Amino acid sequence: MLSRFILFSTALIFSTALISASLPDIKMADNGLSFREIEGYQDYKIVATHYRTDKKELRYILANPIALKALMAKKQPLPEGSKIVKVAWSIKPMATFPDALEADQIQRIEYMVKDSKRYNQNGDHWGYARYVKKGDNYVPYAKGSAECIACHASVSSDDYLFTSFQKTY
Ligand code: HEC
Repeated sequence: MLSRFILFSTALIFSTALISASLPDIKMADNGLSFREIEGYQDYKIVATHYRTDKKELRYILANPIALKALMAKKQPLPEGSKIVKVAWSIKPMATFPDALEADQIQRIEYMVKDSKRYNQNGDHWGYARYVKKGDNYVPYAKGSAECIACHASVSSDDYLFTSFQKTY
């Protein structure tokens, strides 16, 4: 009986660990932000969809519950603990209707986290991370976060965010 219980508990702990550690254990070299910082982001809500004509990429922007609330209420700056994730895909014609395009391969996942204790570059309290898809794996963006900070500074008056909440109704 006891051994069966131990076996069951071990299996439970093991499966919980597997579920909670689905993202690879990698981090950005320059600011230490890890991919696991956004563990579970697949459950965040999509707040905006963008298409980059130059890169021919579709981008979904997802927000955790803290960021979602602030974005919906148009409250800036976003509160501590806000996490905003961007998933970028290449596109392809749909096999069933080629005039329509659909998401094809994920190109990269990137995110911003609001953490004033860890990040304060030019008044900006966001930490930036990008993970580039290589085959079945992801690798931290080799050039680091300096260019993220520089380009997002152009929207400093909007809390360094290009995204605004897009209604679905
Ligand atoms: C040359 C300018 C530029 C650079 C460099 C840049 N971004 Fe952005 N970023 C944008 C633009 C424009 C958008 C909105 C359009 C889109 O979704 O692609 C955006 C959107 C985002 C979003 C969604 C929130 C928002 O602000 O709209 C995140 C998260 C993000 N970028 C992270 C990063 C990270 C991490 C890096 C660095 C590795 C980075 N960006 C580098 C221009 C830039």
